[in-house]
Parts: sequence; structure tokens; C-alpha cells
Amino acid sequence: MKMTGLPYARLQRRRSLATPLIAVAALLLLMLLSGCGSSSDEDKVRLKDAPTDIEAVYRAHCLSCHGSELQGLVGGNTNLQQVGERMSFEGIATRIQEGGGLMQPYMDILSEEEISGLAAWLAGSALD
Ligand code: HEC
Repeated sequence: MKMTGLPYARLQRRRSLATPLIAVAALLLLMLLSGCGSSSDEDKVRLKDAPTDIEAVYRAHCLSCHGSELQGLVGGNTNLQQVGERMSFEGIATRIQEGGGLMQPYMDILSEEEISGLAAWLAGSALD
């Protein structure tokens, strides 16, 4: 009676080891598919990764100082390629709303959706 129970128990144990592995693999796949690890070529935010409407907002309002590659055209912290590493989504959104230095406040110019869209896209650099 004992012998018949043994292989089954072993099978169970093997399955319980495999389950976390499958979960980890599935998670990695999900992260890849959702774009988390997809910018392996460069750890930079790029304009072409922005949603189309947000790209248009950036081109109209931000490109003149921050550049087409987000490389920054007016010095200092105008390079936004890795802004997500030094600022949170909220910090970026506040900065856009309130401006500062050469940068004017945008809260009366852009909608909340546009500002949060810009901030989400820029903050995305933190995910790399
Ligand atoms: C007139 C030029 C100008 C325009 C237009 C402009 N900015 Fe800026 N922006 C700046 C300057 C200059 C700084 C850096 C100020 C400093 O050194 O503290 C800055 C800083 C920032 C920062 C903070 C970077 C950091 O690390 O502190 C963010 C985020 C930002 N801008 C986003 C935007 C977005 C989004 C737009 C378009 C809605 C925009 N800016 C339009 C000039 C501009």
C-alpha cells in the first residue's frame, strides 16, 4: 500500500516545483509584451514611443527647448531622455503644470490629460 502512494507523492512534489517557474516565465513574457523590457537597445525615452496625440503635444509645445530626441536644446536639465530616473510621474506632471526657470506653466495651455500623458510617457524611462 505504501509503494503505490510514493510515485504519486513524487509527482505532486515535482509539479509544485514547476508551478513557480511557469509563473515567473509567464511574468517575464508579460513584461516583455507590455514593453517593460523592450527598449533594450537604449535606455532612453524616445518621441516615437509616445502615443500619437502626446507626440503631437510634445512637438507643438516642448520640442523647441527639449529637442526632437529629447536631448535638450537649452542646457541644464532640458535633456529629458532619462528624466524618469530623477523625477517621478507626479514630479514631472507638476513641473509641466507649474513650469519653472525658462519654462512657462502649462496648466492653462494643456489639458490635464495632455499633461498626465506627457508625464507618463516621460516617466517611462524609469522602467528601464
Ligand atoms: C522655453 C523653453 C521650454 C519649453 C517650451 C519647455 N521647457 Fe521644459 N524645461 C525648460 C528648461 C530650461 C528646463 C530646466 C530648468 C532647470 O534647469 O531647472 C526645463 C525642465 C523641464 C523638466 C524637468 C527636468 C528636470 O530634470 O528638472 C521637465 C519634465 C520638462 N521641462 C518638460 C517639459 C514639457 C513636457 C514641455 C512641453 C509641454 C516643456 N518642458 C516645454 C525649458 C522649456
